[in-house]
Amino acid sequence: MNTPISFLGGLTVEEFLRDYWQKKPLLIRKAFPEFAGLLDPQQLIELACTDDVQARLVKQTRGKWKLQQAPFDPEDFESLKGIWTVLVQGVNHFLPQGAELLRHFNFIPHARLDDLMVSYAPKGGGVGPHFDAYDVFLLQGLGHRRWQISTQSDQTLVEGAPLRILKDFKVEQEWGLEAGDMLYLPPHCAHNGVAENDCMTYSIGFRTPAYQELAEQFLVYLQDRIEIGGMYADPDLALQAHPSEIGPAMLNQVSQAINRIRWDQEDIANFLGCYLSEPKPHIFFDTPERPLSKTRFKQAAEKHGVVLDLKTQMLCHGETVFINGTPHPLSPATYPTLRLLADTRRIKLDQPESEVLELLFQWYLDGYLTPDDHA
Ligand code: SIN
Ligand code: CO
Repeated sequence: MNTPISFLGGLTVEEFLRDYWQKKPLLIRKAFPEFAGLLDPQQLIELACTDDVQARLVKQTRGKWKLQQAPFDPEDFESLKGIWTVLVQGVNHFLPQGAELLRHFNFIPHARLDDLMVSYAPKGGGVGPHFDAYDVFLLQGLGHRRWQISTQSDQTLVEGAPLRILKDFKVEQEWGLEAGDMLYLPPHCAHNGVAENDCMTYSIGFRTPAYQELAEQFLVYLQDRIEIGGMYADPDLALQAHPSEIGPAMLNQVSQAINRIRWDQEDIANFLGCYLSEPKPHIFFDTPERPLSKTRFKQAAEKHGVVLDLKTQMLCHGETVFINGTPHPLSPATYPTLRLLADTRRIKLDQPESEVLELLFQWYLDGYLTPDDHA
């Protein structure tokens, strides 16, 4: 916490969290001085054309915006003219180096992490002035991008545009970023990034879910878990003047039944663990084609350790680990081992407890992890 971090411009994590996180933008020149990008434009376009990838193509012709969503074919990118940009989400699910890059941001809880998005645009490209409900670190790879920002409170959007463009963007500050420079923006800080030449930007995004979304999803979670016994009964039914009216006796009885729905902080923790570790709907795991037997898996895991699949999301609370939306309550003896796996995404194993081995083997069969052959 108290060591100056070069990619935070020499601030300590404590200073960054205190003074900038969720508060104000921070430009860090040469945050990652050696950073030259993780893939080239052609590789990004190939990724955009892969199944199960979330990608967008934004075009701008005579001031009019157009938005196209994946799936894409290579031809979609062949005859592009004018101003355009392609944006690919979840690059950390496909590129080990993308996941490595995210490790630098481990000082922010994994429950807040969304993904690594990479964009490519030729000169002039961008997605227009907008704001996001995200904290984002915008790391420049290839080329140069001019970032303009504004703390304006007017968030009126252009009507009828296929993407969210601010109607009246008033630039307050602007900078040209080159490879390795990074700009941190808190949520709702208006920004506009324009490519000055062939340009790739790496967005490390942290989600800030709306209470409405959390509350709705909590109700979905709760609906599978509540047990309210009994049935409506009215042995003392009294004659009503209007048969169509819902009478007070019915209302009272049902209110009492519904008021028996209860939850506590542990239910909320369990919900958060499940919901926030749930992979996005387009994510699928590849199960091993010819899986190792449990004995061979144990040997391989003991020799090399295990590593989470790039798409796996793992969170912890209390003595429960959540992996890809499923909770696993653990014993106090095994919890620290699996929490370490969740923290670091890979662990060495020295004579693992059978509870750990059983889970790891199951997760291996599910495609959630593999023996760490590269260790
Ligand atoms: C981009 O990389 O072009 C857009 C990133 C953003 O504005 O959020
Ligand atoms: Co943005």
